[in-house]
Amino acid sequence: MESMTFILFGATGDLAKRKIFPALYNLFLDQKMPDSISIIGLGRREMSDREFQNQVEQSLRTFSRRIDFDRTNLYKFLDAFRYSEFNAVNPEDYRKLLSLVKQRENERNIPENRMFYLSVAPEFFDLISLNIKESGLGSTKGWKRLIIEKPFGRDLESARELNTRLSEAFEEDEIYRIDHYLGKPMVQNLEALKFANPILQPLWNNQHIANIQITASEVVGVEERAGYYDQAGAIRDMFQNHMLQMLMMTAMNQPKKMNANEIRNEKRKIIESLRGLKKEDVSLHVVRGQYRSGEAYGMQLAGYTEEPGVNPTSKNDTFVAAKVMIDNENWQGVPFYIRTGKRMKIKSTRIVIEFKDSLKELYENKNEKIIPNLLIIEINPNENITLQLNHKNPLHDGKIEPVKINFSAEQKGVPEAYERLIFDAFRGDSTFFAHWKEVEMSWEWVQPILDAFKENLLPLHLYEAGSNGPDAAESLLKADGFKWWLDE
Ligand code: BG6
Repeated sequence: MESMTFILFGATGDLAKRKIFPALYNLFLDQKMPDSISIIGLGRREMSDREFQNQVEQSLRTFSRRIDFDRTNLYKFLDAFRYSEFNAVNPEDYRKLLSLVKQRENERNIPENRMFYLSVAPEFFDLISLNIKESGLGSTKGWKRLIIEKPFGRDLESARELNTRLSEAFEEDEIYRIDHYLGKPMVQNLEALKFANPILQPLWNNQHIANIQITASEVVGVEERAGYYDQAGAIRDMFQNHMLQMLMMTAMNQPKKMNANEIRNEKRKIIESLRGLKKEDVSLHVVRGQYRSGEAYGMQLAGYTEEPGVNPTSKNDTFVAAKVMIDNENWQGVPFYIRTGKRMKIKSTRIVIEFKDSLKELYENKNEKIIPNLLIIEINPNENITLQLNHKNPLHDGKIEPVKINFSAEQKGVPEAYERLIFDAFRGDSTFFAHWKEVEMSWEWVQPILDAFKENLLPLHLYEAGSNGPDAAESLLKADGFKWWLDE
């Protein structure tokens, strides 16, 4: 793989420690690193290279999914790291950075391929990218790439502004927008599940599917992130990005070819076909919730507004459920129900496909209840695919009962999302990164919901911490004759 420089803005931050360093290290252990690499960490604090390398080592010992205790090997990895004290608003610091980058390119015989990873607060995205351009850091003879993390803006307008600024310094195909859900093995697997299995592929449409349910429930509350979360809510934190990405991946049609362009094309067609909501009608399709105190997981849990740092009168959403319709030939008439929430009963991200009961009448006069066939795709924390079928149970007088066929994926040794995504970015493969059009259209679809929330056009349903969310989320499906599966 081509040699390169990896420049990490925000190298003393939490994400760097928890995810980025361990990801780089695991790629190193798997020999998936560029032929030669120089890694430059930037942070506000003053620190020597040695101190920085010690910090990286510490993060590996705490967070890496494995560690090789061979000192020579570890030293070889750490030797690629250098540190530079850096203040994003100071143009002089970019020039200092450029000379360090060049010095290391010479020492390590690296062509001018530069990857800029912005693991910093979003308000710095445009400032840093502009300075990368103006300082000459971005004028490379090789390639340059920019990796940024969500959030990409906080509404449609700010996302567009941000994108305009970024595109002054980087072309669209140089920008890698991380949505870590796209790095999850089971999300990446959706495409193969549908298109590499001729027994499933013909069923993936409105002729055979009654509805699709996408859930991301978490047991954690707001944690120590009140400052950010109380402004973002579940709608910006999870729904606009992770949930809509999963929807696109689930619903996309078969691409002409399995490459980044074609896959993104198909995803875009889905987001373009989402039936738009009017601000006034949001309350008919969307449920907004907030957790109140409750007893769960063997503990007494505080309500959202009692959490440290949260405004006690906050109307912020910690739960969102929505019914989404896709107006295209394949999905006309099939509701997609999406929900995400904090402080729910279990940690589970899953997609449940409910098939139509076209043979129901056959058994009706026998007074037997046929449960719909389900395909359950568990994404997180377990990776599993389960097919629920009906069979005659000989132990119950041959009564028709559901039976589950389970395919568990091997969980040990599977690379983490950040490993996969950073490796893809190394190789210039942008398949599992969010394209600007996807991001823009997601904001466009979500915008009336943001407006309706802001103007309080729909009730804020309180739900008990440790529950499955507000009852109103049940009613959303009940109205169509469905229910959330696996909520027992
Ligand atoms: C992040 C959100 O993007 O995803 C968090 O900011 C959330 O609030 C997290 O907890 C969930 O990710 P995962 O991989 O644990 O499902």
